[in-house]
Amino acid sequence: MVTGSSGLIGSEAVEHFDRQGHHVHGIDNNMRQVFFGDPGDTAWNLDRLCRTTKNFTHHNVDIRDRSALETLFRSQCFDLIVHCAAQPSHDKARDIPIVDFEVNALGTVNLLEATRLHCPEAVFVFLSTNKVYGDAPNEIPLKELETRWEYARPEDYDGIDENCRIDRTLHSLFGASKASADLMAQEYGRYFGMKVGVFRGGCLTGPSHSGVELHGFLSYLVKVALSGGTYSVFGYKGKQVRDNIHSHDVVRAIEAFAANPRPGEVYNMGGGRENSVSMLEAISKIEQLTGKKLNWAYVDENRKGNHICYISDLRKFQSHYPNWQLTKSLDTTLEEIVAATRAAVSSGVSR
Ligand SMILES: NC(=O)c1ccc[n+]([C@@H]2O[C@H](COP(=O)([O-])OP(=O)(O)OC[C@H]3O[C@@H](n4cnc5c(N)ncnc54)[C@H](O)[C@@H]3O)[C@@H](O)[C@H]2O)c1
Repeated sequence: MVTGSSGLIGSEAVEHFDRQGHHVHGIDNNMRQVFFGDPGDTAWNLDRLCRTTKNFTHHNVDIRDRSALETLFRSQCFDLIVHCAAQPSHDKARDIPIVDFEVNALGTVNLLEATRLHCPEAVFVFLSTNKVYGDAPNEIPLKELETRWEYARPEDYDGIDENCRIDRTLHSLFGASKASADLMAQEYGRYFGMKVGVFRGGCLTGPSHSGVELHGFLSYLVKVALSGGTYSVFGYKGKQVRDNIHSHDVVRAIEAFAANPRPGEVYNMGGGRENSVSMLEAISKIEQLTGKKLNWAYVDENRKGNHICYISDLRKFQSHYPNWQLTKSLDTTLEEIVAATRAAVSSGVSR
């Protein structure tokens, strides 16, 4: 069972497990379009999945709807639940605090509880976020380089690990609703002993993102480069750093966890130092790849609670799952996003 199956990570998970011969069920109500308007519409991705998969069943269900989940979980016995459905933007959450909390926090508890009641032996992977750390990562001393912010102390080189505190920090409402879900997911693992894993994402990306201004920064940057418009860079001199991981590598990590689950564990999951990039560096890379000048404007105010330099420390996950490693470099990922966006632009498909 994959929730958010028409989104970036969900669709990658559907394809991956379908290719292996599993019967995959997906839940998605295209709420990304409700959050972000037509540019967030994921219908194209659902169409693509329906055309390309062998054994995929889609359910147009809202994860807030407990009785619909109950019916679904009664009718099937799932052995893996990959929970990706979410309101994913911290800026958007400010406008819709109740809906954000209902989808991110309550929706997650609905799924955890349905799993506990109907398939307690299943592995449950929850896609959490590095925003659960709020702006605590900004307390790390930084130095300013020509194109990016960088950790000043050698001991911070590998990035933020799972010991970073999650309270007494400014999260944004999105970070707080995801932190609630993150804690409840851990609790179902620790208290009930269920096989729950929590993955705190850095920037998750790939060609199947329906990138919008408020979520999916690389995919949206490429979209602006190829179809026009202006990209706004908010604060930090454009030198803010993000680590980017291809959705394929995220799903391989989920697969590794599912094969050998550790109940209640929490892992940071991103592209790590090798796939980190600043906003200015990303713009320059995308200009080179597309051969087009990207139109961007600097806004001298950072987004509230936004990280200045965030690199996921992947060492905990790698030590628990030594056979997993990153397979897609940032350049490869960007090339894939550019190719997919070019194809969509030339065929007039909205994505
Ligand atoms: N993409 C990132 O950079 C990133 C970073 C950190 C964490 N995450 C987390 O990873 C997960 C997956 O992210 P993504 O980038 O694939 O997001 P996405 O927006 O591409 O996909 C989420 C999907 O969930 C669906 N959805 C939303 N609300 C729903 C509801 N109430 N019922 C059913 N379906 C619903 C949406 O329509 C969408 O297709 C999310 O939990 C997100 O918070 C993502």
